[in-house]
Amino acid sequence: MSDSYPLPKNWRCPLDPPAEYKRLRQEAPITRVRAWDGSTPWLITRYEDAYAALGDPRLSMDFRLPGLPHTSPASAARLERTLPFAFRSDSEYRVQRAMLVQEFSPRRMETLRPRIQSIVDETLDTMLAGPRPTDLMAAFALPVAIRVICELLGVSHDDHVHLHNLSCTIGSRDSPKEAAGQALDEMERYFERLVDETMRNPSDTLVGRVVAEHVLKGALSPQDAAAMFQMLFHAGHGPTAYMVCMGTLALLLDPAQLGEFLAVADDPRQLSAAIQELLRYVTVSHSGRQRVATEDITLGGQLIRAGEGVIVQIDSANRDETVFPDPDRLDIHRTPHRNLALGHGIHLCTGRALAFIELEVMFPTLFRRVPTLRLAVPLEDIPFKQNDNLLGAHEMPVTW
Ligand code: HEM
Repeated sequence: MSDSYPLPKNWRCPLDPPAEYKRLRQEAPITRVRAWDGSTPWLITRYEDAYAALGDPRLSMDFRLPGLPHTSPASAARLERTLPFAFRSDSEYRVQRAMLVQEFSPRRMETLRPRIQSIVDETLDTMLAGPRPTDLMAAFALPVAIRVICELLGVSHDDHVHLHNLSCTIGSRDSPKEAAGQALDEMERYFERLVDETMRNPSDTLVGRVVAEHVLKGALSPQDAAAMFQMLFHAGHGPTAYMVCMGTLALLLDPAQLGEFLAVADDPRQLSAAIQELLRYVTVSHSGRQRVATEDITLGGQLIRAGEGVIVQIDSANRDETVFPDPDRLDIHRTPHRNLALGHGIHLCTGRALAFIELEVMFPTLFRRVPTLRLAVPLEDIPFKQNDNLLGAHEMPVTW
């Protein structure tokens, strides 16, 4: 047994994962940890093992299987409710995921780029006309990310603050099971009403198309559709907003790399590589990926028995010195390497094409329109969210 999970992190270096991962990668890359509920899943910290684990069909994300590790009470609260597609049995998962493939295709997402640029421009107009200092999360990162996913799904933008607050309760490791359960119930009811309305009044939105093509034809129950949309809202705005905030912080703390970033921002290929590096360096999904073995498997020389839980720590894998030389350095010119910030294997992020476009628009536009952007408080005064599934801050005070 190594440590209790999650491992402690030094918040004076908010962009670095817990230092203990480095020792584990070298000495105990697959080791047992003790979770909040007393369970003892395996923790995977090395890139090679993490890559193999995420790509291995014998490691499932089916929440109904006993042994699947729950990294927080909120995660366990999901078990008592309709599970969104990602947490279902592999066969159910594949059927529902196929319903979304076209919706999130790179070609379809590319058509959204001009609209995303307008949303970013309008949000910055409002931010720049407002008071200084301001909170970058509330004034820029969240409104853009929420508006994009709301427009894509066809969710009323008026409801976004309420929905986001529910999402925060679900994503916090501090939320007791009852509070997380209530937030999940409320989200579920919201999206069930949306499905119900859409069944009566068709619309040409993602929700409208899924309802018309799958719910009304009997292939997807209204409850499963509501759970799907709830997950798309939850997973489709938080990581993007947190990534923009923490990526901005990384660039503000390293003016030389910010200069390099702006120098490549006009070249689509180099910009895409720079975004990959920011995704790697920040790895905003720092809560371990949860899996359970459906058969005995051997991973990195370690036997993992059927029914045992596994936590794949992608923030550690993305700092693996055997794959990324000088891994704790942000290097905008790093030769792109397949990092795990958006996952890997069958559960690879559904919204990855959308996430890339959002980041490719948001970072350059922010730094070009606000060239004097800087932190408004010392780093140690930023209130980081120290117990959240995502790496982020309650507030990111900036000025210009
Ligand atoms: C910078 C932004 C984003 C990051 C860092 C991110 C990260 C991730 C990661 C690491 C996973 C894998 C989970 C696992 O294997 O356990 C994932 C899955 C997922 N993401 Fe994203 N994501 C981002 C943006 C988005 C967006 C914009 C959407 C839009 C809907 C989205 C929807 C999803 C969904 C639905 C899943 C579950 C996929 C599955 O299990 O098959 N994500 N994301």
